[in-house]
Amino acid sequence: MWKITAAPDTPLLYVLSNELGLQGPRFGCGLAQCGSCSVLVEGVETRSCVTPVASIGSKSVTTLEGLPSWYARQKGLSKAPALHPVQQAMIDEQALQCGYCYNGMIIKAAELLSKIPQPSEAQIRSAMNGHLCRCGTYPRITKAIQRASRMIPEVSK
Ligand code: FES
Ligand code: FES
Repeated sequence: MWKITAAPDTPLLYVLSNELGLQGPRFGCGLAQCGSCSVLVEGVETRSCVTPVASIGSKSVTTLEGLPSWYARQKGLSKAPALHPVQQAMIDEQALQCGYCYNGMIIKAAELLSKIPQPSEAQIRSAMNGHLCRCGTYPRITKAIQRASRMIPEVSK
């Protein structure tokens, strides 16, 4: 549990970056349009650039840094893997170029697979629709999510 000193209306992104030193969530548009700042709040993808820190209260926030541990808890694993399967699949598929969208793409894909372990291509496209990649890597990101879905065991807690 962290004690935050920022003003209540401070965007969660600023607290994560400036107060807690977490570099996963990134500032992109600042308008909830691109997804680069996404985190999981109670397992739900949330745009941290427009989320006042006071609205979080005691809810759990997972950033890219904590994604492997979040995954391990979800799957009942005794030990967190080094990378979430989506992170590993992104590497395996060489899905990204500049990497700016990496955080949001992975957070959203992890949320998707936690709800729909074997999504169709249409479900992947629909889920990822609000995440922008200026390098246009969408086909490779879709392939990486499909690869990750094959890596994730069926049984979850
Ligand atoms: S920086 Fe938050 S959605 Fe773009
Ligand atoms: S890889 Fe460059 S923004 Fe997506």
